[in-house]
Amino acid sequence: MAMKTRIKKAIFPAAGLGTRFLPATKASPKEMLPIVDKPMIQYAIEEATACGIEEFIIITGKYKRAIEDHFDSAYELEESLKRSGKKRLLEEINRLNRINFAYIRQRAALGLGHAILCARPFVKDEPFAVLLSDDIIDPEDTLFKDMINLYKELDCPILALQQVQKEEIHRYGVIDGLKEGDGVYKINNLVEKPRVEDAPSDMAIIGRYILMPDIFEILEGLGPGRGGEIQLTDALQRLLKKRSIYGYLFTGRRYDAGNKVGYLKATIDLALKNPQVSEPVKEYIIEVASRLKKGIRR
Ligand code: UTP
Repeated sequence: MAMKTRIKKAIFPAAGLGTRFLPATKASPKEMLPIVDKPMIQYAIEEATACGIEEFIIITGKYKRAIEDHFDSAYELEESLKRSGKKRLLEEINRLNRINFAYIRQRAALGLGHAILCARPFVKDEPFAVLLSDDIIDPEDTLFKDMINLYKELDCPILALQQVQKEEIHRYGVIDGLKEGDGVYKINNLVEKPRVEDAPSDMAIIGRYILMPDIFEILEGLGPGRGGEIQLTDALQRLLKKRSIYGYLFTGRRYDAGNKVGYLKATIDLALKNPQVSEPVKEYIIEVASRLKKGIRR
């Protein structure tokens, strides 16, 4: 029997064009947009660190250099913080210092499937995780940890799922599955961005995946799918013919911070959880709510 390999590597695709955030993303990466005081991608990196990931592979592209700089040391800044005795800030910026990052350029934004394929030479023949940083998971939640535990039990690819509203279903990959346990679904089929009447369920695939290296072979042979992109969902659909794939239903809070409203909601909720700003933010929200109630717009 093949021995189960621990998940040590994670891929963070960050080479998308971020068109929904234009003009902010014209020359700077969407993944660097801050939520309260941390760039989006740092939330995903910290989530992975907490679950024992040791190797971090970031897929980047044009105008994405700020990501590399962010996770690099910043000599002048560190010296200046040291001189002015700002120990807490110094610790904060050095917190991720021990992490090793690998950066791979995706030459053109040919789709999420293609972005993952770019990491093949680094992942080689191990199972690995994929985390999309514009899906922000409540940092107190254990989704990714639960997925790793499920993988250990089943030794199969695991996709994170969440129930989404009818109006939103066309934006996701959607599964048809058979419930096998608490939140655990054996996947029968998956469809990328279906029309609501064609959706096999209301369970959408969200941005956390545990995959095995056999997906690379399939991605390699895949042509462009919907929107001319190499779609991960198409590759998973083909993989289904060869092996079992499971879904894990997430019932906690997730923010689709790749769109403006989701991003603003994440900002509000995470500000309310941040002890440095929660009180004044709460007061302000109450003030805004009362203004809105009275019908005052400004
Ligand atoms: P999105 O679907 O959110 O695309 O990609 P996007 O380009 O970032 O944003 P919009 O839709 O134009 O506004 C999901 C994830 O996959 C990455 C993105 O960076 C994001 O983290 N991605 C997407 C790539 O790395 N390469 C691609 O070719 C496409």
